[in-house]
Amino acid sequence: MIKKQPIIGIIPTFTCHESDPYQDRAHFVTMYSEKIIRSGGIPIGILGDAKTYTSICDGYVWGGGNQILHEYFPIIEDAIKKQKPFLGVCLGVQTLATFLNVVEDQKDNPSKSFKEIYELNKESNPYLKKLEEGNIHLHIITKEENSINSARHKININKKSMLYEIFKQETMDVVSLHGMSIARVPKNMKVSAKAEDGVYEGVEYTENGSLLLGVQFHPEIENENTLFDWLITSCHKYLYLVNREHAIQYRNNYKIIPYHSTYPKCVNDSDVEENTYYAWKKLQAFLKDNGYNAEIESAYRTKEVQEEIYKQIEKEEGMEYANQYVAKPGFSEHELGLAIDICLQKEGEWLYGFDEKLKDFYSFLENHCADFGFILRYPYGKEEITKYNYEPWHIRFVGTSKIAHAIMDNHLTLEEYLEKE
Ligand code: DAL
Ligand code: ZN
Repeated sequence: MIKKQPIIGIIPTFTCHESDPYQDRAHFVTMYSEKIIRSGGIPIGILGDAKTYTSICDGYVWGGGNQILHEYFPIIEDAIKKQKPFLGVCLGVQTLATFLNVVEDQKDNPSKSFKEIYELNKESNPYLKKLEEGNIHLHIITKEENSINSARHKININKKSMLYEIFKQETMDVVSLHGMSIARVPKNMKVSAKAEDGVYEGVEYTENGSLLLGVQFHPEIENENTLFDWLITSCHKYLYLVNREHAIQYRNNYKIIPYHSTYPKCVNDSDVEENTYYAWKKLQAFLKDNGYNAEIESAYRTKEVQEEIYKQIEKEEGMEYANQYVAKPGFSEHELGLAIDICLQKEGEWLYGFDEKLKDFYSFLENHCADFGFILRYPYGKEEITKYNYEPWHIRFVGTSKIAHAIMDNHLTLEEYLEKE
């Protein structure tokens, strides 16, 4: 069975005073669990060998504390390698910056291992700095009501960041209280937010489709759930539901890569999301082996291109027709790069759409696309659910053939699959 509620691993915090008899006890900040549940995920605490958890977890929260727990670094490695979303909060963001700095230093010193470089730097930690007395980030929280709000201050968000895409605002008031902050931002890490005094409040690592987000402030104490919603939504990156009711909210760091279609009238020439590309190449080769010379007719479209297509079809065929076949800009999975419209070259002729000569091909495609991680997104007879007409040419990448088979073999739409318990 495939789980749909994402499992989020939480890195524990330990008491670090040696005099504390419970210093080896792990604490999991309850608020993280509550937030994860509210956003639709299942929280689990990570203890012991971190690698045990990497096959279970779909995403991670690395929360606050005051001691970098390097034994959990494999969690960051897993998040990067498997493109799992990662939210680092307070110490979590400092840990992420430390980790990436060590990776960078190791590249410059190939004779030393990651572990050696970390060990050399862990006491002095040049990647972090202590904040000066009296600044806006240092606060003593008491039990007095509203005490936490004394740590509230403004941050400015970089418009070209994932953080901006998530909150869609350039400034924000946040609760941020910490004695240390990032001193050295590694080359491949982007600063997404700063406090008025220049202290880094948000950073992110999005290389090669990664989804690691770090914030110095505390989203777990707020009433709203935006960052946790992002975390849960991003877990099943390739199950992102976009339809008539669900506009594109997050771009999920889909990496669009160039693809040259041999179909001369191909829309946008027609770039495609990275993993969709690899899956398509395999499907295309398989189709070729079976006598079908298939090509991309249209794959990735910018919002502007989607708008042009909609307007053109509306002009040529009328609004009713356009609405049955073309999504409004902002509502098309073509804008994610995960959808491909296929055409076929047969005896020197390019065939597409509802051409009678394509009947065999469409049925072959429907029967085999799941082996490559694709589903037929708008199947015949499911128009009431998808709210679009049957489109035998439009396939959608869902990440794995296992998931694609669970959908196709059971004659489901993506909507039904995501709703099923
Ligand atoms: N043809 C599908 C609905 C789209 O435009 O995304
Ligand atoms: Zn399409």
